[in-house]
Amino acid sequence: MIIAIDGPAASGKGTLGKRLAEHYGFAHLDTGLLYRAVARVLMDRNVPLADRDAAAEVAQNLDVSHLEDDSRLRGAAMGEAASVVSAYQPVRDALLAFQRGFGAGQPGAVLDGRDIGTVVCPDADVKLFITAAPEERARRRHLELLRRGEQAEYETILDDIRRRDERDMNRSTAPLKAATDAVTLDTTHLDADAAFQAALKIVEGKHS
Ligand code: CDP
Repeated sequence: MIIAIDGPAASGKGTLGKRLAEHYGFAHLDTGLLYRAVARVLMDRNVPLADRDAAAEVAQNLDVSHLEDDSRLRGAAMGEAASVVSAYQPVRDALLAFQRGFGAGQPGAVLDGRDIGTVVCPDADVKLFITAAPEERARRRHLELLRRGEQAEYETILDDIRRRDERDMNRSTAPLKAATDAVTLDTTHLDADAAFQAALKIVEGKHS
């Protein structure tokens, strides 16, 4: 069974994905980490993010182990950089087989990202599109970064989220959008527990 979760920046996809995976005993893949990791390798090598060929080469040879443990990937700068390299078709192509393979794992998998329900797993059993008002997403991301000890200004984060959403929604390759058969969940007024309960109802509803 595959649960696909898509949505804009800081909408809570990761937290929700992890909880759903724990609940069902499935594996969980935060696909944003793949794009963040590509950006990170380029930055470590001092290669400009605009170098498409280099980005594609890095994506083809990406070491996908230990992504979860790499705290540098989660910073705001890497989110922005990921959004640049993720617009390159060869980068997306290079990461596709790994994501599909992950989705085929037994007994099931939860994948979250921008194009899971539309491109990576179009046949997913359940597709959720998680959204929330930009101001609320910025508030959550601000808290998260402060808790991790990062310097962060609310207004800067809000600008970053808006710019990233704009880029992700308007790119020509795998733009951020809800699959036609996705169920949209607006979590603006839901905390993490309430969002999990609401998502659980949707998943169960699809299977009862
Ligand atoms: O956690 P947050 O929502 O801030 O970001 P993320 O999910 O880690 O994704 C970082 C960036 O990677 C996004 O802004 C997208 O440009 C890109 N991404 C993508 O294109 N496709 C995915 N399946 C996942 C992420």
